[in-house]
Amino acid sequence: MSKKILVTSALPYANGPIHLGHLAGAYLPADIFVRYHRLKGSDVIYICGSDEHGVPIMLRARKEGVSPQKIVDHYHELNKKSFAEFGMTFDYYGRTSSAEHHRTSREFFKDLAEKKVFVINKEKQLYDPEAGIFLADRFVRGTCPSCGYDDAYGDQCEKCGTSLSPKELLNPRSAITNATPVLKESTHWYLPLSRYQKKLEEWIGTHSEWKQNVLGQINSWFTAGLNDRAVTRDLPWGVEIPQEVANTYGVDAKGKVLYVWFDAPIGYISATKEWAETKGRKNLWKEYWQNKETRLVHFIGKDNIVFHCIIFPAMLMAQGDYVLPDNVPSNEFLNLEGNKLSTSRNYAVWLDDYLKKFDPDSLRYVLASNMPESRDTDFSWKEFQARHNNELADILGNFVNRTLTFAQRYFEGRVPKRYDLTDFDKELLHKISEAPEKLGHLIDGYQFKAYIRELMDLVRFANKYFNDKEPWKTRKDDLYSCSTTINLCLQTIHAIAILAEPVLPFSTQKMWQMLGMTGIRRWMDVGRAILKERQEIGTPEILFSKIEDATIEVEIRRLQKALLPQEEPSPENELIDIETFFKTELRVAEIIRAEKIKKSDKLLKLQIRLGSEERQIVAGIAQHYTPEELIGKKVIAVANLKPVKLRGHLSEGMLLAASSDQKLTLLTILDDLPSGSKIS
Ligand code: 2FM
Ligand code: ZN
Repeated sequence: MSKKILVTSALPYANGPIHLGHLAGAYLPADIFVRYHRLKGSDVIYICGSDEHGVPIMLRARKEGVSPQKIVDHYHELNKKSFAEFGMTFDYYGRTSSAEHHRTSREFFKDLAEKKVFVINKEKQLYDPEAGIFLADRFVRGTCPSCGYDDAYGDQCEKCGTSLSPKELLNPRSAITNATPVLKESTHWYLPLSRYQKKLEEWIGTHSEWKQNVLGQINSWFTAGLNDRAVTRDLPWGVEIPQEVANTYGVDAKGKVLYVWFDAPIGYISATKEWAETKGRKNLWKEYWQNKETRLVHFIGKDNIVFHCIIFPAMLMAQGDYVLPDNVPSNEFLNLEGNKLSTSRNYAVWLDDYLKKFDPDSLRYVLASNMPESRDTDFSWKEFQARHNNELADILGNFVNRTLTFAQRYFEGRVPKRYDLTDFDKELLHKISEAPEKLGHLIDGYQFKAYIRELMDLVRFANKYFNDKEPWKTRKDDLYSCSTTINLCLQTIHAIAILAEPVLPFSTQKMWQMLGMTGIRRWMDVGRAILKERQEIGTPEILFSKIEDATIEVEIRRLQKALLPQEEPSPENELIDIETFFKTELRVAEIIRAEKIKKSDKLLKLQIRLGSEERQIVAGIAQHYTPEELIGKKVIAVANLKPVKLRGHLSEGMLLAASSDQKLTLLTILDDLPSGSKIS
């Protein structure tokens, strides 16, 4: 039986759309790799999904006033859809809020606890006294002790990249309330990485073939010495710690969850379990994960190296039943028009937005041609346009189109016969026959840029072949040569439709159809399966239309604008969308009683009627209205405000009023409407 290949791409956080940096880092290379292996007939599965826990998701949910679940539901669906439209061929796209994931992560934790892997520490942690919450990871910000940057996160300084723990920050402040944190005691489970360092070093020592950028980072962690890592947090969102485990340590598990970086990589396993369920073979996942012969490959970006090369492997070693990664081909970062991507400033190209305007294959091609394999690279819209126009349209598209059009026009839309071969013909056939091994070797060795270069060299050669053979001339004076030329050009399209499938899935599918092919594509058929003479070919269509300057300028200008210093939105001019507006429930209210509040010259206590319901509202209008003049008035109330107590009196809503200088007037309605009527 052939060796199983298990491929994963880093699970993207479900708190924002996918951008080009993600694609170039962890997704496109994996998809090219997997598509190649499928064409080869390898036993390969490709697993990914949404990472739905962690503090950034909670912060976003708080900011938007919605639950974290609402945020992750939205982005899980959005990203899953964009990935599909981009041509990503995951066998399974899971999510870490699933029941299976929670169960699997808890079991994993329990298993390690039973194996006495963890050490438990009681120690003082930063706590926000105003919000009543422990400040884990990104819930705290402050000054980086390494570089002095004053807005570093509790888990990492974005400026210098130093990995931090919240207590290391100087002048810490809560990211929720801005309050100065206090220290409060809490108990947590730690993975004692130092105990695994030797074993990890031995294992990494057997992988000198890994990329230098990856080995370099790992070795600097080893040199610094591995420290114990807390794998639990005091947070209300995440995988809850099993109480039965906490009991054995005499700890209350309430309010404690697994650290997101403990549960996220287990997401690869839980998603594989869910995939196995869809195949109706519950235990199939074990044949991949618990099989020492499996080739496990994690595709990631460089910020994830420590987690995939040290922490997750240590967890897997500690558990004992799992295979360790065979390779972790991490990419460096992709910059944008010469600058670092910044999601917070909207300085990014978002996949969902891109797909509304351009074709997936163009981006796949441009990103693969310029992938940050061993150093950071730059994406520019001008380069995107140039590669699309000059390489995809002018070289590949042109070769395919001129060949098929010629065959349609002069050979009745059929594959013409191949006659005696010249040296030039043989040279083309030789290039095709050696391509599968050469290109396959590059993909299998994670050298995607080199694969694209070789592929395009073949297409360039084919274009030159067409030119030099001049079939438009030989058609008139050497029909044998003309026929052979077109036969070989069609054979070349057949080869390219297979060899380029991993990077250009959509266009090569069209090429396949235009050739009149119906069967599945197989890598081994390149150069071996000879096109049948007289086989009917399909109608040629343009594969790549040119991208105009004006189209590209729009994109460039948008990015330039995002780089300009941004005005802090003030409460007066901050724009909201219609959904946000409609979250406010406005209703017509009738004031049925009103009275002054003792010891307050500003507040009135009102009883209002909202349809069949009565409510109490405390309003700061005593200096503008007497209680008597309000009785019976129809005003406008915000009906879905959280109740609050003002001067000890419950207030269950708010009345709308307009103000100008010292004057304030309650808003009312022109025509009489029953109380409770909805305003929209
Ligand atoms: O860096 C990130 O985007 C993480 N969400 C990657 C997680 S990878 C895996 F461990 F799940
Ligand atoms: Zn720093």
